[in-house]
Amino acid sequence: MPGPPAVASGMRAITYSRYGGPEVLELTELPTPKVGPDSVLVRVRATSVNPVDWKVREGYLDGLMDAVFPVVPGWDVAGVVEQVGLDTPELSVGDEVLGYVRTDVVHGGTTAERVAAPVRTLARKPAGLSWEEAGALPLAGLTALQSLRRLDVGEGDVVLVHNAAGGVGGFAVQIARSLGARVIGTASPARHDYVRGLGGEPVSYGDGMVAAVRALVPGGVDVVLDLVGGGVARTTPDVGTADVRLGSIADGSVAEIGGTNFWVRPSSADLADLAAMVERGDVRVEIARTFPLEQAREAHELSASGHVQGKVVIRVS
Ligand SMILES: NC(=O)c1ccc[n+]([C@@H]2O[C@H](COP(=O)([O-])OP(=O)(O)OC[C@H]3O[C@@H](n4cnc5c(N)ncnc54)[C@H](OP(=O)(O)O)[C@@H]3O)[C@@H](O)[C@H]2O)c1
Repeated sequence: MPGPPAVASGMRAITYSRYGGPEVLELTELPTPKVGPDSVLVRVRATSVNPVDWKVREGYLDGLMDAVFPVVPGWDVAGVVEQVGLDTPELSVGDEVLGYVRTDVVHGGTTAERVAAPVRTLARKPAGLSWEEAGALPLAGLTALQSLRRLDVGEGDVVLVHNAAGGVGGFAVQIARSLGARVIGTASPARHDYVRGLGGEPVSYGDGMVAAVRALVPGGVDVVLDLVGGGVARTTPDVGTADVRLGSIADGSVAEIGGTNFWVRPSSADLADLAAMVERGDVRVEIARTFPLEQAREAHELSASGHVQGKVVIRVS
């Protein structure tokens, strides 16, 4: 009996061998990664660029995470299982998956033709999603879902989402709506129609934001979810009820004002919940632009511009 087809011993990957700007990214050849007992090898179809990818590349997270160079950036993946580990009953060769493949040491990321991914980081790809959409969903979608759950958002809540039009915000608005909340979302005027299309009520960020929120919700919002940082969480007492719940993914100082910091965790179960929301039509994926693997530098630059609506995707194969 012929066994499964042999996996190629090498692959194309984007790597960097020192911290720095986008110029440190190179298209290189690497050995195909080894597959641990509870991991599978994923043939990558698409990944996305999240702000954390260029922040790690710049060295900003060096105090939190060791980097083993050369680093392959990227934690989002959509692709096909090409090889399974010793004990991975959850998945088989040929399964279509998506995942948020963050490990504690920065090294073997997803901007490559193959990645070895622990099964706890993966779930099955919804059939209705394109590869690009599936590669854009995991990190940002999980961040939105986990943050809203930790803020206990549900029926009847009024939620203010700071940065409603970015990668995470697009998911946060839609998921909060599907949980039964009313959503106010900050965005620049050019993106107000987009926020409305997600089910949110847009207000402009910057001067006048507090008054605009108060005009919509005179009694104050129940929940503030800060997806942008820069001190905007400090306006919470001005826009919220007396017992407003505050969380931030982008401001490490919110605990000082009674808020909670969130850092997205890999979770197969949460990814499966997200996939179900997509299949029900509650959540769709907005893609700002898709780049080929060879243009990973341009993709990082676009993400780092800070002015993306939706997600920046890299199509790998
Ligand atoms: N802790 C975690 O687990 C976690 C997870 C994911 C992301 N993050 C962090 O969360 C932040 C957001 O991530 P993301 O992927 O959503 O970013 P993103 O997609 O790059 O966000 C871009 C959006 O931000 C908008 N924006 C810029 N300044 C704004 C402001 N002052 N108020 C409201 N919106 C503003 C831009 O709108 P205009 O172009 O119209 O200005 C653009 O639509 C990043 O700092 C990221 O590193 C943390």
